[in-house]
Formats: sequence, C-alpha cells, structure tokens
Amino acid sequence: MIKKGIILAGGTGSRMSPLTKAVNKQLLPLYDKPLIYYPLSVLLLAGIRNILIIVNKGQLSQFKKILPIKNNLGIKIQYKEQNKPGGLPEAFIIGEDFIGSDNIALILGDNFFYGQNLSTRLKNSVKLKSGAQVFLHPVNNPSLYGVATINKKNKIIKIVEKPKKTNSNLAITGMYFFDNRVISLSKTLKPSKRKELEIVDLLNKYRKKGNLKAEFIGRGGAWLDTGNIEDFYNTSNFVSAIENRQGLKIACLEEIAFNNHWINKKNIKEAINFYGNCNYSKYLKKFLV
Ligand code: G1P
Repeated sequence: MIKKGIILAGGTGSRMSPLTKAVNKQLLPLYDKPLIYYPLSVLLLAGIRNILIIVNKGQLSQFKKILPIKNNLGIKIQYKEQNKPGGLPEAFIIGEDFIGSDNIALILGDNFFYGQNLSTRLKNSVKLKSGAQVFLHPVNNPSLYGVATINKKNKIIKIVEKPKKTNSNLAITGMYFFDNRVISLSKTLKPSKRKELEIVDLLNKYRKKGNLKAEFIGRGGAWLDTGNIEDFYNTSNFVSAIENRQGLKIACLEEIAFNNHWINKKNIKEAINFYGNCNYSKYLKKFLV
C-alpha cells in the first residue's frame, strides 16, 4: 500500500512568464483555487495523507501561506527546497529521507485530473507492491509529452520523451507510482540533452525488467494541461463550467478530507476562519449542517 506522496512543485514556469516572475506557477489561480490544490486533491483522493512538497529555493513561505496546514486537512505536509529544477526523478533523490523504505507516489504540481472513476483508479494504484505504474491518456499533441506505445495486451513496449514523430497518441501523465527501488534507480540516471534527469529513462528501467504497468484514463476522464497560458485558461474554464453547473467544487481539499473522515466539523470551522469571507468558505459551510 502506498501511503506517501510527493508533489513536485518547483520549475521556473518560464512559458508563463511574466506571470511566474514573482510567483510560483503552482500558486497561480486555476479558476477559484491555487493550481497546487488540484494535484494535492488527487493525492487525498488516493488516500495519501503523508505528503512532501518540493518547491523552488526561496519560495517556501509562499506555499506555507496558501495551504491550510494547521491540521485542517488531517494530513501531514512537509516541504523541501530544490536549488534548481533538475528533472522529475530528482524528486526521489531530494525525497530520499521522506520515502525511507516505503513505496511512493509522485504527482507533478501542475497536473490536472478529473473524471468519474478517478478515485477508484487511484485507490487501486496505491495497492502497488512492486514495480511501477503510470497513467496514460490519449492526446492530439503527443509530441509535447512522454509517449508510450502499447501492444495488444496493453503492455507498454516503448517509451519516448517528446518524440517528434510517433504512431501512439498515449501521453504519460504526470502521476506515477513506484516501489522503493526508485531511489537507487534515480541515482543511476544521467542527465539528458536538456540537462535534466528524465522520468522516461527511469520508467524504461522498470519496463525493461517487465515491471512497468499501464493504467488508462480513458475518454471519460480528463487530463488537462496547464503548460502554457492558453492551456492554463482552458483548464480554468473547464473547472468554472463544471463547478457552476453542478454547484460542486473540484479539488475542495476539506471536502475530500471530511469525506475520508480525516477531519470533523470543528476542523471545517477552522478552515473557514483560515480562508475568510469568500466563496470557498461559503461552500465549506455546507458541511457544517
Ligand atoms: C514531464 C515529463 C513527461 C510527461 C509530462 C506530464 O514533461 O517529462 O514525460 O508526459 O511531464 O505533464 P515536462 O513537464 O518536463 O515537459
């Protein structure tokens, strides 16, 4: 059972400059919440309560201000700073002490997931005992992502980072599950041409040993991009459309924690005090009746 998760929330956000000059991208508003609430909510939906957030050096206080850490969520959040972004597998080297001898989930701080069966899929994924597991999702612009080619048995036979040409439309999403070997394997990786450790190199190590499993977020689910400003606003509009139609919030952290029985009404009241007079608090009041 995977009980620990890392959110990698560093990066320069250069494609979103000047918005990201002073503020980390993960703290920008995706509709009505900071972007980081969305990947954090995914970990909570997976039942993960022990979380390490890796942030850029000098930006720790920004994150601490925005997240309701005083036990309002019934989870434990720790932070580590990263001097400069060195690629996704660096998360396992920076997070070595946090991971200890456990298995680990990693989610990228700018990834957005939504869908009917998401919770169930996540709860199945955290059952991973050995090997690694990725989520694949069809996209019309695979060249922007890590791409997996699968065979008829849904087994991954090839993985390439941002291929110029590919016959597969299956992107590897920014949510990964690994056994404890991930720490030592990450240490054996060499930086790529873009001078970063590559997650695909790590995944290929598992794949070559027959230890990489593919799960699918099919067309009924959404994995949306927040990479550039256009995609960021499209995703923001998606959240706005769903929330306003349903009157239900996506990624309301307290709602998930409350439904998981990790917090009680007293904690919800504390959260309302933390957020102050706003729509998010108004939504939280629903759980007090
Ligand atoms: C990274 C990974 C890529 C993955 C993507 C998901 O890309 O390298 O394999 O598909 O995240 O968001 P990057 O954000 O470095 O372009």
